[in-house]
Amino acid sequence: MKIYAVRTLDISEEKIEKICLLIHSGKRFKIKRFINKEDKVRALIGEILIRSIIFEKLNIQNKYITFEKNPYGKPYLKGHPKFNFNISHSGDFVVCAIDDKPIGIDIEEVKYIEYKDIAESFFSVSELDYIVEEDLNIQLNKFYEIWTLKESYIKCCGQGLSIPLKSFSIDIDKYENIKVIIDDEHKEHIFKKFDIGLGYKMAVCSLNKEISNNIIMIDQNSLINNYSKFNME
Ligand code: COA
Ligand code: MG
Repeated sequence: MKIYAVRTLDISEEKIEKICLLIHSGKRFKIKRFINKEDKVRALIGEILIRSIIFEKLNIQNKYITFEKNPYGKPYLKGHPKFNFNISHSGDFVVCAIDDKPIGIDIEEVKYIEYKDIAESFFSVSELDYIVEEDLNIQLNKFYEIWTLKESYIKCCGQGLSIPLKSFSIDIDKYENIKVIIDDEHKEHIFKKFDIGLGYKMAVCSLNKEISNNIIMIDQNSLINNYSKFNME
């Protein structure tokens, strides 16, 4: 298993158009439809990041890389069931995790929201308690911790929000061991939370035995340059 992260930088519209010519048309149209430029950059970087990883790990040329989606929208690499990946983007980060078993990753920029109302409506009672029993000044961070852990679980399962958010509960004990509880039973999923940058929360959920501690940071300009190069060859 490996975890990758790119800190995004602004790209000119012209350069976005140019790189878009080097990705699959379906994704290109999706990116063109975004009004917000930051959304375009995040989606584009996510796409070339995973394509570059696949080229590096599996030596598949870009034109032979085909993604399909499960009925809930989780993308996977066609013809390679042992290659599992998941992407998340928020703020200035695009992150990606790969593994030989299903995996889920989620990153969120910590922004002020009415976390108590949201947690009351969508989180389990014990998740809400985990947040509100903390000092007021760290409750928002605790909320995002639970949020990203819940979402990493949903994304690992690949069933999107068809899994009701209250149907499972994330338990973090005093030793920071994390597990998911459904109908009083522990599931085999394992979790890790990451402090990837000030103002961000990130979590990974896996069906394997271990989650890497290490995040491989990738420079956006090198990623774009290498990607453009291997596509021209
Ligand atoms: N399962 C796993 N991964 C999925 C997926 C699914 N069903 N559907 C899409 N993805 C992948 C895609 O690669 C997508 O990237 P792309 O849009 O560039 O193609 C990526 O996940 C997006 O992840 P993220 O950046 O974390 O987006 P999100 O937080 O807006 O949404 C969803 C994640 C789509 C999987 C889904 O869980 C959702 O709609 N969540 C809404 C937020 C929410 O209510 N979360 C509750 C947390 S408590
Ligand atoms: Mg998310």
